[in-house]
Amino acid sequence: MLARAITHALVGLEPRRVEVEAHVHKGLPGFTIVGLADRACQEARERVRSGVAAAELSWPGVRITVNLAPAELKKEGSGFDLPIALAVLAASRQIPPESLESHAAVGELALDGRVRRVGGVLAVAEGATRCGIDKLLCAAESCAEAALAGIEPVPVRHLAEAVAYLRGERRPEPCERGNGRVAARAGPDLGDVRGQERARRALELAAAGAHNLLLAGPPGTGKTMLARRLPGILPPLADAEALEVTRIHSVAGLVSLQHPLIDQPPFRAPHHSASTAAIVGGGPGLRPGEASLAHHGVLLLDELAEFARPSLEALRQPLEDGEVAIARAAGRVVFPARFQLVATMNLCACGARGDPAAECSCSAQRLAAYRDKLSRALLDRFDLVITVPRPRAVELAAPRGEPSAVVRERVLGARGRLAAGGLRRTAEADELLTRAVDRLPLSGRGRARVARLARTAAALAGAEAVGAEHVAEALSYRSPAELRA
Ligand SMILES: Nc1ncnc2c1ncn2[C@@H]1O[C@H](COP(=O)(O)OP(=O)(O)OP(=O)(O)O)[C@@H](O)[C@H]1O
Ligand SMILES: [Mg+2]
Repeated sequence: MLARAITHALVGLEPRRVEVEAHVHKGLPGFTIVGLADRACQEARERVRSGVAAAELSWPGVRITVNLAPAELKKEGSGFDLPIALAVLAASRQIPPESLESHAAVGELALDGRVRRVGGVLAVAEGATRCGIDKLLCAAESCAEAALAGIEPVPVRHLAEAVAYLRGERRPEPCERGNGRVAARAGPDLGDVRGQERARRALELAAAGAHNLLLAGPPGTGKTMLARRLPGILPPLADAEALEVTRIHSVAGLVSLQHPLIDQPPFRAPHHSASTAAIVGGGPGLRPGEASLAHHGVLLLDELAEFARPSLEALRQPLEDGEVAIARAAGRVVFPARFQLVATMNLCACGARGDPAAECSCSAQRLAAYRDKLSRALLDRFDLVITVPRPRAVELAAPRGEPSAVVRERVLGARGRLAAGGLRRTAEADELLTRAVDRLPLSGRGRARVARLARTAAALAGAEAVGAEHVAEALSYRSPAELRA
């Protein structure tokens, strides 16, 4: 006897329909799973068998073959447990096979039959909706996430509950949908930063135009402090962006139970010991990396020069294209990665450079080795490079700075003006830019980045056009002397 359950496998973030076919037939008792299932998926055999016993259902004492079709698509993870169990139960007529036609299912089974949540439920639910299926059997904890795809989630805490529901013996419990958007924005406030007017201005420009920012300077001057305050002055995500970000975080198993929708720009700050795969994604499980988790948000690389050079170079392509493409034997997988890069670093290995009160003990060689960590190509991708000097005593004793909420309002206004378009450069602005290309010199990318930053400065000022003063300000943020010397 044959029965079929429907689920979806993920290729990156893309859901692909998978039919779980179970065939119960005469022969020596045994249980085989075929169809390019990975190890976690193969182990489903033990969990499904044990889960069925725990649900006080009978395990068919005959030969069972489960095929995950299409066979050429690699199936990864434990989310196939629930559909496999349901297909086997339908094939042995313990549940009506036709009840599975209008449902998709996803979830891991515990040995005692409980249904556990898995990552990527949002993408699976979206795949099911696209196939015209309107109900998804999943763990109760996954319901709020699945509901974001517009599907009707059927929460099942235990395999026995799923069986009772499919037999029509039990109505599904209303699931908790979460309460939508989260209003509270926790995080450090810009008001804590005293003085550092230039750095604050750079942070505001970076927020308004989503520019990459490098803060360099001696230790303890507030670089990390400033960088961590960038997310707090960014506007919330638009609906489509929020869904995109949530889909990525869902695949990585990082969404919250009550508020699955991530509607604030994400902030990711990987440690400098993180591997290249952790930063850009990939690895055996093909997980999105920090660059993708920071999509539509901020990626902070604190102590930039301590990161391994290959990890930094791997970021060059996503910084340009806004996505990470990972080549695999079975094809190419693309994760979106349109993040804003913020980095901090000291000016030399000992850290004293740039501090008038300290003397740098680095040899020319050591200094060169330190600077070599960052290729020119990477430096070229920072629109704003500033040095953060040691604040003077009077600055530190000054009253609190402007709070994040006030700055965020200005950023919001500038974003609106930038989106409206129509900001053109004046003739003087054009002339200044052309002269700078020769004098600095600026690369083609450098010129485009200066032009973009000048537009942001004009939008923040509420100007009618991009003037020479805006271009001049933008030029002042191109690699300062301290980093070149
Ligand atoms: N401008 C400032 N206003 C208020 N507090 C400051 C300021 N600058 C530094 N501090 C204080 O100094 C602490 C250290 O700053 P932070 O960690 O940002 O330094 P850093 O520049 O990142 O140093 P390092 O290069 O060693 O990482 C902050 O937590 C804060 O308490
Ligand atoms: Mg720091």
